[in-house]
Amino acid sequence: MTWLLRGVRVLGGDAADILISGDRIVDVGSRLDAVGAQVLDGDGLVALPGLVDLHTHLREPGREDAETVDSGTRAAALGGFTAVHAMANTEPVADTAGVVEQVWRLGREAGHCDVHPVGAVTVGLAGERLAELGAMADSAARVRVFSDDGNCVSDAQLMRRALEYVKAFDGVIAQHAQEPRLTASAQMNEGVESARLGLAGWPAVAEEAIIARDVLLAGHVGSRLHVCHVSTAGSVEILRWAKSKGWRVTAEVTPHHLLLTDECAATYDPVFKVNPPLRTGEDVEAVRAALADGTIDCVATDHAPHALEDKETEWAAARPGMLGLETALSVVVATMVEPGRLTWGQLADRMSMTPALIAGVADQGRPLAPGAPATLTLVDSGAHWTVDPSQQASRSRNTPFAGRRLPARVTATFLRGRPTVLDGKIA
Ligand code: DOR
Repeated sequence: MTWLLRGVRVLGGDAADILISGDRIVDVGSRLDAVGAQVLDGDGLVALPGLVDLHTHLREPGREDAETVDSGTRAAALGGFTAVHAMANTEPVADTAGVVEQVWRLGREAGHCDVHPVGAVTVGLAGERLAELGAMADSAARVRVFSDDGNCVSDAQLMRRALEYVKAFDGVIAQHAQEPRLTASAQMNEGVESARLGLAGWPAVAEEAIIARDVLLAGHVGSRLHVCHVSTAGSVEILRWAKSKGWRVTAEVTPHHLLLTDECAATYDPVFKVNPPLRTGEDVEAVRAALADGTIDCVATDHAPHALEDKETEWAAARPGMLGLETALSVVVATMVEPGRLTWGQLADRMSMTPALIAGVADQGRPLAPGAPATLTLVDSGAHWTVDPSQQASRSRNTPFAGRRLPARVTATFLRGRPTVLDGKIA
């Protein structure tokens, strides 16, 4: 199939045509002609390399009532993503070659975007014994990112061994940084708001203490550490220091930590309960500045769908987590592009190129140039829309942005030359 995308603005630059043949971009230029090509009138749409998410909970196998690989990857494609990394905290846990291959195969069958399973670091996420990291790496799923996300690998010796193990195949350990002894029964960020609301606090130091330990371990071992969902100003300072040492440390921030603060908890609406918790305005400013200056390398959604009965209950009983795939791009535009803190090109770096590099995904996050895979997303940068949970493709409804007006809308997504989304709908 041949496609001609007319008048699109690559990374927000001047209008150009993109000619796609088969799975590749064959030409980028003005007034291209292609007899017999399907023409998409992209007048003024911003063209970005397909977005890559390092942190997605797809819930399959085990909690198909909350999300499936099919529904979660539909949400991903609609949000402009062409690859997601499916977290390992499924039931059963993705801690063997068998489970990661199952998730990978389900992703291929659904076909909405590439699904790269994340392997668990420890058996059953129990933090006691290393999982079969090598077998998962050698499996058809070719796992390169390992994480116990949801849980912290809190044992320093296990963390050291995991870092040593993945070094052999240039894998990366993605740590959920949370010292469990400092966060027992925690409900929200520890601070003025938690004191006012009478909810048990989750101190910033619980995140920072683990990051400090882990960057030292990564430096010692010479292996790759990726820090999940950085949420505090102190974490940013530690990362800045670790990077100044030349250690192989990368980090992500979620859209919700770029936009929302712990004041949302005053509603007692559990849709705002998340792990790590929403922090203070000063923390939000620090993570925005860190994403702008590259101390935080990329955005990752931590898309965490939950069934109604797990979420719409009293605060203390509700599961932590928020939907993210369908709103991520808009939230990053609102918090970073509109205020002039990131250009479109830098947004592409933070949401596509860099996450693809961190995960070792070779055919994603490539500049939109002749010869590159035709894996891209088209964004109406001038559009505004109001988030309606009932209109989301996810099986769950727990978006913290319900009713919020957001800028920028994905109109089309292409995966290796094949449209997965056209006119804002699944193709
Ligand atoms: O809020 C969260 N939800 N944080 C996590 O780390 C796990 C996730 C989940 O699986 O629901």
